[in-house]
Amino acid sequence: MFPGRLAQLPPSSFAQLASLLDPVKPGGPVVSLSVGDPRGVVPAFVTERIAAQVHQFGEYPPINGTAEWRQAASGWLRRRFGLPAKAFDPEVQVLPLNGTREGLFLAPFIVTPERKAGGRPAILLPNPFYQCYAAAILAAGAEPVFVPAWAETGFLPDFASLPKSVLERTAAAYICSPSNPEGAVAGADYWRTLFGLADTYDFTVFADECYADIYLNEPPLGALTLRFEETGGFSRLLSFHSLSKRSGLPGLRSGIVAGDAGLMATFRSLRNYAGPQVPMPIMAASAAAWSDEAHVIANRELYRERFRVAHRILGNRTGFRVPEGGFFLWLEVGNGEEAALRLWREAGIRVLPGAYMGRETEPGKKQSNPGFSYIRVALVSDLSTISATLERMGEILARSGA
Ligand SMILES: Cc1ncc(COP(=O)(O)O)c(C=O)c1O
Repeated sequence: MFPGRLAQLPPSSFAQLASLLDPVKPGGPVVSLSVGDPRGVVPAFVTERIAAQVHQFGEYPPINGTAEWRQAASGWLRRRFGLPAKAFDPEVQVLPLNGTREGLFLAPFIVTPERKAGGRPAILLPNPFYQCYAAAILAAGAEPVFVPAWAETGFLPDFASLPKSVLERTAAAYICSPSNPEGAVAGADYWRTLFGLADTYDFTVFADECYADIYLNEPPLGALTLRFEETGGFSRLLSFHSLSKRSGLPGLRSGIVAGDAGLMATFRSLRNYAGPQVPMPIMAASAAAWSDEAHVIANRELYRERFRVAHRILGNRTGFRVPEGGFFLWLEVGNGEEAALRLWREAGIRVLPGAYMGRETEPGKKQSNPGFSYIRVALVSDLSTISATLERMGEILARSGA
């Protein structure tokens, strides 16, 4: 599909899903629970801010955002992660992104050397994973090292289990918390171990925390919080955040990257070449969204309600778990691909086989893919749709013994 260093990328998860389901007639009106598209209601203040700044589409926006945006983004980072005012300098340690994905894609380019420890640099990533990571790693010329996240490892990758020879070549590690697809959250010990490895082997942590404000009980501990508490700074850390999930505004394409001052300076230089500026009216609306919590609290309550419904309907299934964060059910069904096909054929329900977000750990052995026995179910529709669809899903899975 792609030439050169991207040639080893398989078709995207959604292309694989289309190949599986599109040749088959859906057994009912189609309900898509496959895409994690939050479909939030756009708060009035967002619309108003964009309208008020529309004339600024006539100007090139600055790569580091407006002063108003930097203050709003920094204010949220401080409040959300319990950081003192002096923890970071908004002028150099915070940058706007065109959504987290854009920043996650460019990040490997600023940390990947030609060689590390005498070999090809490696970048670690969880398996299963958000697909952008692997594409970014390959594009930057590094070797992707897929680290499985099994139920036994708390649905997070056990980076410490890697051989020393790999860790020595490691230039960076992606970690997602709360994680997509499993909704697992990294606790203090997890972050401590990861930063310990980063310090020992001199690599950067890319903390994808775009679901940081979507949680069921306690707010997930942030990488910024732990790193600052332990070291008084953010060395070897870039932390990524998004209004797509927090505010249910994926179409705004607006995120934050914050962290280590040196890395941020390099990132800013690269971004000046690549040019992913955020338009000024979008920055104005983003500043308002980072400054407001009321819409986020309401948003979070909607997800809690959906998970309560999911628990009521599917809670007696073996292996059912309500995730700690994010908005996906990671449902164990035996064979995720077969289950997805059955749900489609019998009821028109579209879910993503977990395997399409992962990689086989032993090539040619489907079961060695940590996503093999799961389906990912996005709880992003309205409550009555979710309720009716999960009831139907429960019946079909139970009947098939999945
Ligand atoms: C784990 C993860 N990271 C990053 C993103 C990108 O989000 P955005 O670019 O909308 O901020 C997503 C979106 O689904 C995601 O699930």
